[in-house]
Amino acid sequence: MMHKGTVAGLFDLAIAAEKAAAYFYQGHSEAFRGEPAVAACWKGLMSDELLHKEQLSRVFAALPQTVRSADAEPGQYERAAENLRRFGPMLNVRNVQNLEEAYDIAYELEYSEVNLIFHALLGDYTPQPSDPDFALRLIRDHAGRLEELLRTSGGPERMRGVLPDFDRKRQGERAI
Ligand SMILES: [Fe+2]
Repeated sequence: MMHKGTVAGLFDLAIAAEKAAAYFYQGHSEAFRGEPAVAACWKGLMSDELLHKEQLSRVFAALPQTVRSADAEPGQYERAAENLRRFGPMLNVRNVQNLEEAYDIAYELEYSEVNLIFHALLGDYTPQPSDPDFALRLIRDHAGRLEELLRTSGGPERMRGVLPDFDRKRQGERAI
């Protein structure tokens, strides 16, 4: 079913974005497992993204068909799709050279329009949202954790020297 530009289409994009973010954080929790505090931070963010994905699916499942097939705000779908396309290559874990780069992408992702729209969907389409600042709080929470990571990792210069370990994983996989 073609539903680009509709509320349903927007939810599809939102769910895809949460999934992509979860994969991104999961990949980093594995690639940076040599630094336990860093790996734990990535892992926590990954769990949250999976939770957001489930929340979105639940909210969508409860929407009446008339709301699902209604048009999204003009341009909103296109902007979100464009943002998601732009992030595509950046979210490929293997394109990341070091921890600072991973941090920069994560920070940009958390504050991206794609993330703002998608978290706002949760609030907009949840009947009687109990917490009107929910979306903003989610974003601030993740940004806060990333800033904490920056501090505990010793700042940008040290982070540039922390390299992802993909080879060890490949060796591990071969050993199984
Ligand atoms: Fe999210």
